[in-house]
Amino acid sequence: MTKIAPSILSADFANLEKEIKDVEQAGADYIHVDVMDGHFVPNITIGPLIVDAIRPVTDLPLDVHLMIDNPDLYIEAFAKAGADFMTVHQEACPHLHRTIQNIKSQGVKAGVVINPATPADMIRPVLQDVDMVLLMTVNPGFGGQTFIQSVLPKIKQVAEWREQQQLSFEIEVDGGVNQETASLCVEAGADVLVAGSAIFNQPDRKKAIRDLFN
Ligand code: DX5
Ligand code: ZN
Repeated sequence: MTKIAPSILSADFANLEKEIKDVEQAGADYIHVDVMDGHFVPNITIGPLIVDAIRPVTDLPLDVHLMIDNPDLYIEAFAKAGADFMTVHQEACPHLHRTIQNIKSQGVKAGVVINPATPADMIRPVLQDVDMVLLMTVNPGFGGQTFIQSVLPKIKQVAEWREQQQLSFEIEVDGGVNQETASLCVEAGADVLVAGSAIFNQPDRKKAIRDLFN
């Protein structure tokens, strides 16, 4: 079963508790939390304080996507705040293997992310170490952008490597996932779909999630 991770970036931030409970009831599997620092990406969003505040309002795993430089400086803080998954960008981690071990040492599931222009080969050496591979299907920074089709072969490639090496990490896609593009991602091998605007911009979130599969 394909999992759905609504990105709260497109939620009503004045009513985060209500928004999170609403998508939980609508059938979400994870809550995707977009952390941006104004350096790695041109936007500033959420820090450990908000993760800590939303932790008690849901039983769903918190899937924390770190779009920040020097993620090692903040791994402990996000772990203490209650992250269940933490994904770091290969582009932001000169010592990627160490950073992944650092996440795992906090008892948090570790994932690696690559931008649309980064080849899948860049993460091949760490595939055996991760619980999740996140393939960006937009350039990170904002919700509501257009899906970049050229990422699809990368999803397939990573799924093939996973099978060849008999690994079990999840493959997640993030950006521009909607009614038109969700099935393309699933066909290519994605297990987890992040969707922000396609879910939170709809009044009926249950229908919005259902629509992703139709
Ligand atoms: C983009 C974020 C995404 C974003 C997705 O930088 O990582 O998680 O919220 O939003 P949509 O689904 O609207 O493209
Ligand atoms: Zn994200």
